[in-house]
Amino acid sequence: KPFKVALIVGSLRKESFNKKIGRAIGQFKIAGMQFDDIEIGELPLYNEDLEKDVPVAWQNFREIINPYDAVLFITPEYNRSVPAVLKNALDVGSRPYGKSVWDGKPAAIISCTPGGLGAFGANHHLRQSLVFLNMPTLQQPEAYISHAAKLFDASGDLIDTSTYDFLTSFVEKFEKWIERNVQVKKS
Ligand code: FNR
Repeated sequence: KPFKVALIVGSLRKESFNKKIGRAIGQFKIAGMQFDDIEIGELPLYNEDLEKDVPVAWQNFREIINPYDAVLFITPEYNRSVPAVLKNALDVGSRPYGKSVWDGKPAAIISCTPGGLGAFGANHHLRQSLVFLNMPTLQQPEAYISHAAKLFDASGDLIDTSTYDFLTSFVEKFEKWIERNVQVKKS
């Protein structure tokens, strides 16, 4: 402890609501958790042919993710699924076969949308991949954040107190989940 948590956001947009959720969480004062923003926007699209001469960005990404204790995914929903940029990052990290950087890492998912359905489709499509990637993923509480445009002030700070309180307790429960599921580090 503190647990090192990779914070991966499924939107590249500068004013992304999901990024703003991530920023708010990064500022929580929770002693047992340290969040780092992970960049996924520069990863070349996954293509197995490239494993012969691995792109530097892939190699760096795999090395960056490896030492983390856990992963927090914060994602919008695109057409009822996960944005391609996030799926691409999952795919890049999952290979080469047998060397997945995700294997065994505890995870949690927050989905956020300006719409009313909490980006449920993205949240659950992501869960489908995390089952296969062997990431024990927090089941309760679930985090579906709707009506995102109302939650932030003009400078992008989270000002909705009920969302703030919910996310605080969500992250505290995630900390307990990591405690229960974290891999014993190989020294
Ligand atoms: C969307 N959006 C959207 N919203 C939603 O709730 N369900 C959906 O299926 C979709 N589909 C969708 C597809 C595409 C291609 C785009 C560009 C957008 C709207 C989306 O929630 C909105 O743009 C958010 O603001 C995106 O999240 P960020 O960038 O604010 O984090």
